[in-house]
Amino acid sequence: MCTVVFVLFVIVLLSPVTEALDNGLALNPTMGWLHWERFMCNTDCDTDPSNCISERLYMQMADVMVKEGWREAGYEYVCIDDCWPSQQRDAQGHLQADPKRFPGGIKQLADYVHSKGLKLGIYADIGTHTCAGYPGSLGYYETDAQTFADWGVDLLKFDGCYMKWTLLEEGYVNMSKALNKTGRSILYSCEWPLYEWPFHQPNYTAIRETCNHWRNFADVYDSWSSIKSIMDWTASHQSIIAPSAGPGGWNDPDMLVIGNFGLSHAQQESQMALWAIMAAPLLMSNDLRDICPRSKELLQNRHIIAISQDPLGKQGYRTLKVNSFAVWERPLSKSRLAVAVLNMQEIGGPRGLPVGTVPGWKICDPQCNVTLILPQYKELGIQALHSKLVIAVNPSGTALFTVTPSSSFEAHQHMDWHDTYITDKRTVL
Ligand code: GLA
Repeated sequence: MCTVVFVLFVIVLLSPVTEALDNGLALNPTMGWLHWERFMCNTDCDTDPSNCISERLYMQMADVMVKEGWREAGYEYVCIDDCWPSQQRDAQGHLQADPKRFPGGIKQLADYVHSKGLKLGIYADIGTHTCAGYPGSLGYYETDAQTFADWGVDLLKFDGCYMKWTLLEEGYVNMSKALNKTGRSILYSCEWPLYEWPFHQPNYTAIRETCNHWRNFADVYDSWSSIKSIMDWTASHQSIIAPSAGPGGWNDPDMLVIGNFGLSHAQQESQMALWAIMAAPLLMSNDLRDICPRSKELLQNRHIIAISQDPLGKQGYRTLKVNSFAVWERPLSKSRLAVAVLNMQEIGGPRGLPVGTVPGWKICDPQCNVTLILPQYKELGIQALHSKLVIAVNPSGTALFTVTPSSSFEAHQHMDWHDTYITDKRTVL
């Protein structure tokens, strides 16, 4: 069984990716911040001025992103989601920001964000209305694309509400062309497949040629059940969706909800590890002005970000489900492999999985070098094919490690890890 899964894994890895949207953007999975999951459609600036959708929110987020090391860690885009516009277009048919909540307008906000060395994202919808009922772009694609370009916007999230599903392809392609025609580099984030799946299997070749990333599945919530449902959906559709990911175009499993209310720390580590393995955009939706230090450290973990941004640009796969463990693997540059082992059993304590069970462990023939990244960084040194190393994982947590085959490193140091069971304060590895 294991061998069959591994062979399939290798075959899928060798399949060619189709052409990406050629706008020079999203060569690595996009990193940034997006307001939706945390701030939703809060337009009540009278009673909740700090959390309502207003220019102040994005300016403060941009300030913190610079001051607190987010920009340095790679988070670049500050993105507006739904509920920013006025209920009406202006007399010339242009979208306009709500004047009370965005008194300076979007252009001034874009200038501010750019002055911080960051980029600004905005949201619109392919149909008659946005999902929250604001004006949609149907009939205005060229006008709206030009408006966004004139304002200096750098990313467009284009939602799929209030549109006949049979017109999704045409609409998403037309908006892609309209953005291109403006001459401004605007990263194009689509929700096309999400709205098409209920009717038929989307055409991922066309999607990759049209969009820089695309949502496939339901909106993320601040809960472990939501994260699990996204991982399950992704794994059960991986042979269809994963080959279409690569530099220029990525599957988008939705925002990171790390730093909010609903996930334990182990579950936050699982989301971070899995989003890196899935080569997903890392768009945080949280309050960076008030985030716990452990969540911040996790989101800024350079070893995990390096996996996410690996130049090989391959999406990982779930390669094994055994004994309530899920093993996910992502091939990295220089023949390395990133491995995430999730303990899906939500009762009891840490449980161990022998590393030899991991399908990709085969690259440890004769030897490999292993670096543990989660739950804490540790060089595990040289391992052999028949290593007895056991990785123990907390309930709903993840052990994340990289494996470098012996051909890729100088075996200058020999450490014997046979029969090793490593412990730290809270985890047996
Ligand atoms: C849809 C999208 C979400 C968010 C909301 C806004 O549900 O999938 O990500 O943009 O609309 O209304």
